[in-house]
Amino acid sequence: MSSDKTRRDGPRHVAIIMDGNGRWAQARGGPRLFGHHAGARRVREIVEACPENGVDYLTIFAFSTENWKRTQIEVAGLMSLFRRYILKEMQDFVRQNVRVRFIGDRVKLDKKLSGLMDEAEELTAQCTGTNLTIALNYGGRDEVARATQRLARDVASGRLDPEKVDEETLPRYLDTHVLPDPDLVIRTSGEARISNFLLWQSAYAEYEFIETLWPDFTAAEFHDLVSAYAGRERRYGGVKA
Ligand code: FPP
Repeated sequence: MSSDKTRRDGPRHVAIIMDGNGRWAQARGGPRLFGHHAGARRVREIVEACPENGVDYLTIFAFSTENWKRTQIEVAGLMSLFRRYILKEMQDFVRQNVRVRFIGDRVKLDKKLSGLMDEAEELTAQCTGTNLTIALNYGGRDEVARATQRLARDVASGRLDPEKVDEETLPRYLDTHVLPDPDLVIRTSGEARISNFLLWQSAYAEYEFIETLWPDFTAAEFHDLVSAYAGRERRYGGVKA
């Protein structure tokens, strides 16, 4: 949560910007949704790889507040994929002891999807293994704006003293308020941008921008990135032999 936190060898919280589904599909002459479906299969592989890599929290960027600008066909296809994904995976999450949470603005999502999101959160609320957070209709600036609105309401109603607002106050109003900050943020597909993802939370994170397109990203590559982070941490600790 702060710059001077005690850092573990490996990243406890990994966040991923899953990019490159469209290009992956295009390279195979398929529609963009073909790539998103392949991408969804990778999510399962990476979630399953978390325990053996010591990753307790995995946060993935599934749909941004900007993604509504895509064609109606792609947006509808993605929404339907999310619904089917949650329905299909829900019981497996419970079996794998995965606790699922969603971040982002649910108000703008269709009721069927947001209902399934609530259901998945409730069903996995007792799970104590990997914490999977899916960012859906999420934007970092939008999250900070919504948090500020809630904070301002508390000030207006007298529940919060404006003089006491500090760095610890705002995160309590963010969608991620129960999560630790990410240690490592990975973006696939060669773009070196953070695209409005976890802006506040990633202030001290390490970034890895890799060329692999998301549907080609494997558990082995995930393991390599987690290990590379651990290696860097040891050097920063000044314990070189
Ligand atoms: C970016 O690739 C990807 C997305 C906007 C969607 C991410 C969604 C998934 C990986 C699907 C499944 C996720 C869940 C949780 C079921 P892009 O379309 O921007 O690719 P491009 O840059 O090559 O066009």
